[in-house]
Formats: sequence, C-alpha cells, structure tokens
Amino acid sequence: SSCGELKLGEIRATALTAEFGSPLYVIDEDAARQRAVEIRTALQSEAARVGTSATVYYATKAFLCVEVARWMAEEGLAIDVASGGELSVALAAGVDPAVIGFHGNNKSEREIERAVEAGVGTIILDSEFETERVAVAAARAGIRQRVRLRVNSGVHASTHDFLATSHEDQKFGQPLDAAPRLLREILRHDNLEFVGLHCHIGSQIFATDGFRESAKRLLGAYPELAQIAGRPIPELNLGGGFGIAYTSAEADEVPAIADIARELASIIAETASEIGVPLPKLAFEPGRSIIGQAGVTLYTVGTTKAVQLAGSDTAADPVDLGFAERLYVSVDGGMSDNARPALYGADYHVRIANRVSDAAPALVRVVGKHCESGDIVVQRDVLPGDVRPGDTLAVAATGAYCWALSSNYNYVPRPPVVALSNGSARVIVRGETEDELLAKSVSDAPRFTPTTN
Ligand code: LLP
Repeated sequence: SSCGELKLGEIRATALTAEFGSPLYVIDEDAARQRAVEIRTALQSEAARVGTSATVYYATKAFLCVEVARWMAEEGLAIDVASGGELSVALAAGVDPAVIGFHGNNKSEREIERAVEAGVGTIILDSEFETERVAVAAARAGIRQRVRLRVNSGVHASTHDFLATSHEDQKFGQPLDAAPRLLREILRHDNLEFVGLHCHIGSQIFATDGFRESAKRLLGAYPELAQIAGRPIPELNLGGGFGIAYTSAEADEVPAIADIARELASIIAETASEIGVPLPKLAFEPGRSIIGQAGVTLYTVGTTKAVQLAGSDTAADPVDLGFAERLYVSVDGGMSDNARPALYGADYHVRIANRVSDAAPALVRVVGKHCESGDIVVQRDVLPGDVRPGDTLAVAATGAYCWALSSNYNYVPRPPVVALSNGSARVIVRGETEDELLAKSVSDAPRFTPTTN
C-alpha cells in the first residue's frame, strides 16, 4: 500500500526512484516558480513603495540547467551568471541577453568577448584589469557596455567564513574607498556606461542588519561618485544571500523576505534622502532562497552500523543526549552529490520516505559511499530505529549548491535531476553513467612532443 509513504508533488518518492533510479535529485518546479515570484514581488513592491524599482536576478550558480533558466525568465526574473558555461546555458534557454548580468573575479578575455558580443545587459567589474578588457571588447563589438563595479562594503555578515564575501581579506571586489579612482578609469572609456555599485555580503544570512549596513555604506559613496560622473548614479545592486531553513530548528530564525525587503527599501530611501542623492533603482541576486527548498534528494539505504557513544561525546551536543549509540546509515550517494556538509559543516534533515514506522527513535548519521570519513550527508538527526537496507531516505532543502557543487569523486556518476510539476515528473538534467566517465579516461590520445625545450 502507498499509505505512509512520502509524496513529492503528489508522486510517491518510491515511484520516482523506481522510474529514475537512486540517488535522485528532485526539484518541485511549481514550488521554485512560486518562490521566485514571491521574492521578486516582495522586493519590487517594497522598492515601489519607497519610489523606485527593483530588478531581481536569479543567481544561477545555486542551480542551473536550461529548464530552470527558462522558468526563472518566465517568472520575470533577470539572470545572473558567473562563467561562460553559465552564460551558455542561459542563452540556450532563450533568456533575453539584455536581462543577464555577468559576474566573476577572473573572467577570461574570451568570456568577456562572448558576453559583450551576446549583448549581455550588465557586466560586473570585479578587478581593475577588467575595465580595460571590457572596454576593448565593447569597442570591437561597436557597442556601449553597461557595467557595475563590485566593491566590498566591509560588512562581515555572520555566516560560515567561506560564505562571507564582503570583508576586505578575500578575493572578490575592490575596497569601497577605491571606487572613485576606479570610476574615473571607467569614465575614460566611451564604450562603458557605469550604472552603479554592486556588493554581495555573503550567503545563508539570517540577520537583516548586514544588508542594511552594507546598503548605507554603498549609498554613502554615491554623492562623490555622482560628482565624478557628472550625473546621478542610477542603480545599486545589493547581491544575494538571503538564508533558508535547512532544519526545523532554523525555521524560526529565517526572516520573511517581505520583512527584509521592507527594511532594505526603507533604509535605502532614508539614507538617500539624508545624503541628498536621488533614489537609485535597486537590484538583487538571490539564488539559494529561490531554489533551495524546492529540492529534495532521494537515496537508498545500503548498510547500517551502530556505534556506542562515550558519555563525553554525547554531553557536548544536546541533540545527542539520551542516546547511547549512533546509527550510521550508509546511502548510495554522498559528498559527490552533496558536498555542503563536508565543505561547510552544513546541517540537513532526513526522513524515511518508503514507509511509516513506530520503532523507537535512533540517533542517526547518514553517510555516503565515498572513501572519506567526512563523507556525511546528514550529521545528526533522529529516525525510527528500524531504518534498514532498502529503505528510501529523503533529504530536504537540497535544491541549491548540491547538484551545482557535485563531483565524480570515486568515479561515481552524477544522479539525474527530475522536475515535478502538476503531478508528473520529467528529467531536466540527465544522470551520468559509468561508461561515460570511463570514456574520459584515454590511452590513445595524440602525443605532444615540444620541438624545443
Ligand atoms: N551574487 C553573488 C555575487 C554571489 O557571489 C552569490 C553567491 C549570489 C549572488 C547568490 O547568493 P545566494 O542568494 O545563493 O546566497 N556554495 C555555498 C554558497 C556560495 C555562494 C556564492 N555566491 C553554499 O553551498 O552554501
């Protein structure tokens, strides 16, 4: 009977794994589209309330394929890409190049040329070397290229260190106080049209004060920049980074997008009027907050193993209290399909998807099949103690930065991505096969022998 089985978009999880295999990435298309619209309208209506407008870019690095780019464009979002590859996917999806923004701290000259020739709406200058490169490409194409300048506001949003980007000691962007000098450089090129500053303070951020402070600091530079440009600076891009709940414990901490939007619009309007600059048009680049919760990964349990816990191990963590043992539950994927626990110590939650059980709860750690002890999918959660080989497990909130960061570690093929909509499912990213991976390993490639050394 299907009673008690987890359903995703009205389809039983086990029907999905039976049809498409395991592990399996599942994306709820309807949920992703709804969330895109919710975030876009929250930011746009708050911008309108204070007398300006907002463009909302979908940050494709979170998860991109042709279908997802198409959904986002259809829902009225602009598209943020950060490499030539992401640009190709967006263009293949039929996205209007004029709504594409192109990022990267080290875009190649070829990538810059392609973006300019494709008619990409905005290029974000991350380095002083790029000003010249973009100007040359624009001159060659005979166009005037809109550019933003990426700066660091110095705000260190409280998040995992690798996810924080706007304090000075990291690779992205230029110091805010270098903006006047860099703007003068930009203005030397007739082929460049400076539209404003960009700042991304980090990712998976819950507190709104980082965004508010960053917006204030950026806007604080606008009077001087306007003076240098001889005209008001028309736009301000505040990046992405809105956090989502990965576990139920986090659910209360996540501010509603409507509240963030209201606070940001207000602080920007107040600051602009205080310092006497016209209110710029706003832009945002959310990725995770749009696609993260639309994704679920399904796995199949292969083995389990109980490990006795020493008292001191459990005392350190309140969740572990009361459990004398930890059940290691090995699944058929792991850090190759979700690197986030290994990379960032990210937390996920898990449940059994193929049946209900009233067995006593067990403390579990869901681990993958890779040859590393850090190959963890779910660090700690509680499942019915009779979880066993053959069970289907569902890990929630895997829509962002899971497929995107996936690898072939141990020659494990990537699982397919299936989209659910309206009670049916279809593949939107093909899975890989061992044969395809094997085919990359060659012994008959032509030899290169340099004539001079
Ligand atoms: N804009 C810029 C310039 C960015 O660098 C990023 C993310 C975004 C927008 C979108 O941020 P979001 O709204 O998705 O937080 N791999 C990490 C996250 C890296 C984020 C990189 N930049 C993770 O799995 O948590």
